[in-house]
Amino acid sequence: MSKSRYQAPKGTRDIMVPESNRISSVLKVFEDTLNSGGYGQIISPLFEEIGVFQRIGGSSEVVTKEMFDFYDKDPKSPQHLALRPELTASICRAFAQHRPVTPWKVWYQGPQFRYEKPQAGRYRQFLQVGAELLGTPDPHADIEIIAIASNFFRKIGLSGIKLLLNSLGDANSRKSYNKALVEYFASNQEDLSEQSQETMLKNPLRVLDSKRQEDQGVIEGAPLITDFLNSDSVNHFHIVQDGLSLLGIDYELTPRLVRGLDYYTKTTFEFVAPNLDSAQNAVGGGGRYDGLVEALGGPPTEGIGFAIGIERTLMACEAENILDSSVQSLEVFIVDTTGGKEALVLSEELRQIGIRVDRSFDQRSMKAQMKAADRSGAELAIIIGTDELNENQVTLRDLRGEGTQTVLDRQSLSKKLPKILEETRK
Ligand code: HAM
Repeated sequence: MSKSRYQAPKGTRDIMVPESNRISSVLKVFEDTLNSGGYGQIISPLFEEIGVFQRIGGSSEVVTKEMFDFYDKDPKSPQHLALRPELTASICRAFAQHRPVTPWKVWYQGPQFRYEKPQAGRYRQFLQVGAELLGTPDPHADIEIIAIASNFFRKIGLSGIKLLLNSLGDANSRKSYNKALVEYFASNQEDLSEQSQETMLKNPLRVLDSKRQEDQGVIEGAPLITDFLNSDSVNHFHIVQDGLSLLGIDYELTPRLVRGLDYYTKTTFEFVAPNLDSAQNAVGGGGRYDGLVEALGGPPTEGIGFAIGIERTLMACEAENILDSSVQSLEVFIVDTTGGKEALVLSEELRQIGIRVDRSFDQRSMKAQMKAADRSGAELAIIIGTDELNENQVTLRDLRGEGTQTVLDRQSLSKKLPKILEETRK
C-alpha cells in the first residue's frame, strides 16, 4: 500500500477500535469514581493565554521547551496563546476568575499538548484525567486525593501500581533546602553536565530530576529535602503518611522524587507501573501547589491534585494482561436482498428500541451480505429476501451457534427480538 500524502502529525495518533472502546470504558470508571467522591466535572478551554502556563515555572521543560504556542488573529493586539500542556494551571486560573465556594472539588478529562520527542508512551497529544481540590490546607485533602487516584487504578483492575511519596516542604523549608543544594552543586560543579550546571542556577531542585548519566554520582550525594522540612511540613507529611496507612494504601518514601513542574509544595507523589519501560513508567502524578492560585492573580488558596495519563494506563493494563475486551458488540445484522429499503426501516426501528444493529449498503448479493454479517460479530442475522418480503416475514439466523434458522412474522419482530436475543445467549 502506498503511503498517503497526509499523515497524523508527529507525536499524535488516530485512536480507533478497540483502543477507543477501552478508553471510553476507563473514562467511565474515572467519572464514576470522582462523582462518588463529591467532585464535579470542569470543562475548561483547550488553550489559554500563555501567561497562565508560564506560572507552572520557568525551570520546567514543559514551559521552556514544550509549549505549542501561537498568536490569534486580532490585527491590533494579537494575543499570545498556548495549547494546554496540563490542566492544573487552567483550573487555578478558573478558580481565580470565578472565586467558587471552597473546598472546590473538580475533575477533568481531555487532551494535553506537549512538544516532546515522541516515543512509546510519550506523545505530543495525550489524554489525561485528573482532579483538583482547592481551598484547604488540611492534610486529609492530600490523603483523599491520593486515595481517589488509587481507587481508580484498583477499579480498572491494575494491581501492580506503586505509589512514590515525597514532601517538598513549604516555602520556608524549600528556601533552606535550595540554599543547601546550591552550595552542594556549586562545590561539585565540574562533575555536572553542562545542562545541569545551567539548571542549577534556575532551579537547583530540578537537577535532581536529571536522567543524564554523568549527573548521577553528584545527585546520589546531594542533601535530602527530608532533612530540611520545618515542623509544620514534617507534621503535615506525617499526617498524610498515617492516613494512607490507615486506608491500607502502600507507599514508598522517595526523598529524591522531583516532579517536572515547578509549582509543588509539601506533598508530591507519583504512580508508577514497574512493568513499563522506566522512562515512561509514571502513569500519574500530583501534589500540593499552595501558591499557584495566588500566582495567577487569585486570593491565597491552597490546592492539591493529580493527573493520570490514559495512554500509559492502558499500556500498564496491557502489561498486566487485563485489557478490557468486553466491548459491546453488535447484536443484529440485517441482510436485505430486496433493494435495501427494508434494511433501512428495520435498522432504524430496532435502534430506536436500543438494539445494536448494522446492515450492508450497495445492494450486494446474499453471499456478500452473509459474509459481512459473519464478520460483523453480530449474534443474529435478520434475512429479508423476496419470499420473506412477499409473506411479510423475516428469517432469523443464529450467527454464533449452529446456524439455526427460524421464520418470524415481520410485525411482531421488534416486540419479540429482545427475548429471542436473550434466549440465543443461553
Ligand atoms: P505530569 O506528571 O506532568 O503532571 O503528568 C501526569 C501524567 O500524564 C504523567 O504521569 C503521564 O502518565 C502523563 N503524561 C505526561 N506527559 C505525557 C506525554 N507526553 N505522553 C503521554 N503521557 C504523558 C501533571 O500534568 C500535573 N498537572 C498533575 C497535577 C495535578 N498536579 C497537581 N494536580
